[in-house]
Amino acid sequence: MKVVNPLEELSEEELRARLEGSALPRHVAIIMDGNGRWARSRGFARIRGHQAGVKAVREVVTACREIGVPYLTLYAFSSENWERPSLEVAALMRLLKNYVVGERDELIEKEIRLRAIGRLDRLPVDVRAELARTMDRTAAFDRLTLTLALSYGGRAELVDAVRRIVVSGEERVDESVISAHLYAPDHPDPDLLVRTSGEFRVSNFLLWEIAYAEMYVTNVYWPDFRAKHLYAAIVDYIDRERRFGRVSARAGGRG
Ligand code: FPP
Repeated sequence: MKVVNPLEELSEEELRARLEGSALPRHVAIIMDGNGRWARSRGFARIRGHQAGVKAVREVVTACREIGVPYLTLYAFSSENWERPSLEVAALMRLLKNYVVGERDELIEKEIRLRAIGRLDRLPVDVRAELARTMDRTAAFDRLTLTLALSYGGRAELVDAVRRIVVSGEERVDESVISAHLYAPDHPDPDLLVRTSGEFRVSNFLLWEIAYAEMYVTNVYWPDFRAKHLYAAIVDYIDRERRFGRVSARAGGRG
């Protein structure tokens, strides 16, 4: 579906200026979509789209750090993505490994903590090992927490949470108990959920955590997504009155 986002007509500088002095989202979550279509529209193999998508990942990470968004979560590989052709899965795993190895020094230099959520035990051993190394080496940083959702499914996360609750012997189950057993219980819920490529689906991403998130959809395919598009999404978010199903966010609290 085509969306109209007039803010994307503005320049990066204009958008950035509109962020000054505003309360930014604490947590931005992004469904990176459209790599395949980006590649197909250029006559390339799908994997070229994923490769180009890494540049967008770098740019968005840098932008979040610069403007002061403390949590960024990227949907990099879903539970369903295991069903893709084995060559594409292998290429995505290779890209992921190259990213966590190749960006390690940069993440350390920029004081960015890397985390991962999902059924990580399904990842190839070498990817898991490099991921763990980068996570360990960045664990003490808090300037930006970059979380990669890998082999991730929102329903699977809830199943895993319930399993852990059962094992823990906890008999009193309420929202706070479920939240405490999610993959990253210490992260705030996303305030803003961005999806690229004009699709309006949630696709099994952070189902529990996005209960009150504002959504922003852009037509831009992920490999073309730049800081400017992120700023447009955040300005749009800031301009909305957040109600949380009650009266008015401006009246205070979760109203
Ligand atoms: C969706 O596009 C995108 C993915 C399934 C993978 C996203 C991966 C990257 C951006 C690169 C690796 C990530 C990191 C963090 C290094 P699609 O293939 O479903 O696109 P389509 O809907 O147009 O086919």
